[in-house]
Amino acid sequence: MRESDNLMDRRGFIRRAAGAGVLIATSALPVVADEETPAIAADVFPKRGQYERLSISYAVVEIGAERPFSVLHISDTHLTAAYAHENDKKQQLCSSRTTTFGGHQEEALRDTLAWARQHVDYVVHTGDLIDWQSEANFDLVRKYFGDTLVGSMGNHEFSTDMWLSDPKEEKTEAYKDNTRERLQQVYPFDVCFQSKVLHGVNFITLDNVYSYVTEKQIELFIREVKRGLPIVLCMHVPFFTPLIWRASMRFWRDNGPMTYSEVPTATGDFLIQQEDIVTRDFIRYLKTEPLLRCILAGHEHITVEDQFSPTCREYVVGGNFLFCGREVLFL
Ligand SMILES: [Fe+2]
Repeated sequence: MRESDNLMDRRGFIRRAAGAGVLIATSALPVVADEETPAIAADVFPKRGQYERLSISYAVVEIGAERPFSVLHISDTHLTAAYAHENDKKQQLCSSRTTTFGGHQEEALRDTLAWARQHVDYVVHTGDLIDWQSEANFDLVRKYFGDTLVGSMGNHEFSTDMWLSDPKEEKTEAYKDNTRERLQQVYPFDVCFQSKVLHGVNFITLDNVYSYVTEKQIELFIREVKRGLPIVLCMHVPFFTPLIWRASMRFWRDNGPMTYSEVPTATGDFLIQQEDIVTRDFIRYLKTEPLLRCILAGHEHITVEDQFSPTCREYVVGGNFLFCGREVLFL
């Protein structure tokens, strides 16, 4: 049996094992006691209430659900933990990247999940839950989600050691293959592609962490379309509209202001979506697919939304490390 067959077998098993009728029911999330996580720093809004640091935005999607339900969409938590026994690279990254992301990522995750348990029915996470691979980060994934998480990979999930990675990071399937099996053992959902039907709505999560999609994923997507249910597509990198690209560049580009009408030249992820033929054609097709009703994405660390197609609105959520999330009510 080929290694890929083994992987597919296990994915099939995981899909069946996780297919007990939930997306990520908040009632099934592990309860994490406050004392198990870092104390709220005294210098971060010390007199505010438990959830007042959260930055929650809202959306309503009329999708034809069998009954109304709500989902908390979060993304980009960027956990940066390492155990003392892990190697020097992990210690270096822990120090450097904890500074980068503010050091409150675990608190943000804990508070958003606690809020979700009280306020919404389900949670979806669209990737970069961890900043790079470490035993400590993987244990946090298990601690907060147990076997309940459904979501998608982010580009950082595949990063062994960021700029210290050996082999060096490449935006290819071959690079992902180096650690795909390990990630599949930690994350309790199919890391490549998964479908979960919830109240008559088909939530499809897929790995597009380097912006492109594969022919295999498209084949699986088309199979799901044939079920005839309205679709919510959940993935890490947005499928860029001019407005979402413009908003992303306003945030990330450091060469001054843009006029309101200016759409910056496509580079990076947006360029890949235009130049990779498989991905380009898939996006063109999606814009004509009436069953596609909503896209949930992250990656950019900003909250922005736009109309993707006549039937589909795309929502990008800000970084969870910034205490962001979006409640989406499906009607
Ligand atoms: Fe991110």
